[in-house]
Amino acid sequence: MGPGPWPLTAERDDAGALHVGGVALTELAREHGTPLWVVDEADLRERCRRYREGFPGVEVAYASKAWCTTAILQIVDEERLLIDVVSGGEMHTALAAGVDPANLVFHGNNKSVAELDRAVEVGVGRIVVDSFEELDRLEKVAADRDVVVPIWLRITPGIDAHTHDYVRTGHDDSKFGFTLSLGLADQAVRAAREHPHLEVVGIHAHIGSQIFGTDPFVANAEVALDLLARWRDEFGLTLRELNLGGGMGIRYTHEDHPVEVARYGEAVLRAVDERCERLGLDRPRLVVEPGRAIVGPSTLTLYEIGTVKVLPGLRTYVSVDGGMSDNIRPALYDAEHEVALANRAGSDDPMPVSIVGKHCESGDLVREHGSLPSDVAVGDLLAVAATGAYTESMASNYNRIPRPAAVLVSDGDVRTIIRRENLDDLLARDVPL
Ligand code: LLP
Repeated sequence: MGPGPWPLTAERDDAGALHVGGVALTELAREHGTPLWVVDEADLRERCRRYREGFPGVEVAYASKAWCTTAILQIVDEERLLIDVVSGGEMHTALAAGVDPANLVFHGNNKSVAELDRAVEVGVGRIVVDSFEELDRLEKVAADRDVVVPIWLRITPGIDAHTHDYVRTGHDDSKFGFTLSLGLADQAVRAAREHPHLEVVGIHAHIGSQIFGTDPFVANAEVALDLLARWRDEFGLTLRELNLGGGMGIRYTHEDHPVEVARYGEAVLRAVDERCERLGLDRPRLVVEPGRAIVGPSTLTLYEIGTVKVLPGLRTYVSVDGGMSDNIRPALYDAEHEVALANRAGSDDPMPVSIVGKHCESGDLVREHGSLPSDVAVGDLLAVAATGAYTESMASNYNRIPRPAAVLVSDGDVRTIIRRENLDDLLARDVPL
């Protein structure tokens, strides 16, 4: 399909029908129903590898919040990425996937005592401490278990990456981390050193998500290294680990032009080495933690079109059999995901359409300003691109709509990795009077 937002193996056959992983999407719809997440295994593995190769000598942690389901974590683990989790549930899933706890990084701005205790019990590799309260909580947990826990301090570096307000985290006014400019990071490191069961071994600084361009990442690395050098000079403290967070942007439509991983890696590593040289620091053990860029492009969502409503002089609404319960991103962030007919190419005279879901809410958009062949018809299949990140993981049962299934496709093989929810699942937690 050319350079665009579609999975690497996506192609159209001679009749114009779309295939992924050597399987026709029409066949997947027939066998597995719609809506359906279709994951291109080759694409997912390739993105893991590109990160490892683009960042030589750097550990790559997959931010599992993007899509935390057992099979995805198994693949990412097989590709030798670390895994970042932000809740007891994500940790539980990673452990169920057979991930070595030492390869887990545990984030979160309000982890519970129970979550911290399990992390210490199983031996999670690094816990990222986000607040003064958490220093105290974790100290107690570690003391009760009589262990010393290696931690990173999450600092808020004061970098304003220009992205959607809800996905910015590095600027000063953030719920995450110890704000550098207010002196909280210094206070945190001093406090941590008074906790005998905690050992600060590094810092973590994440600046936001869906960021295009390398400058904000370079600035983040420089700010973090300056801090390490200052702590060395002022506190005689040598921290050898630096996690630079995730947030690399991906292509959702043909108009997006994200930075290639290799260029991003080069820019960051060059900046790190120059800064280390200037500051007289050894290059710390570096970690980056992309989520979206690993899993986002691998997946498309397949829907069936159920109604086409023409409002002359206004617009044409095309409704599909899912929507905001399986992809909240357009409603929440005005996100644009490219769309295409999947069962056939359609006529080559595109017309503007608003593609909407089946939920009882006008904001239930799939693509507000989309374009489809003018002969689009009820029964056509619609593919929506780049839905691997933050769609299943943010899915709901709004309007009591069962969540879709997910299939993994590769070289003509199809494996179900999430079974479709059924009506009984919807009742499973209800307790009738
Ligand atoms: N590390 C930390 C500490 C994070 O908070 C995040 C994302 C990541 C890594 C991974 O960022 P990524 O590489 O995936 O951009 N639901 C929103 C995105 C929220 C991102 C939250 N944190 C969306 O659908 O766009």
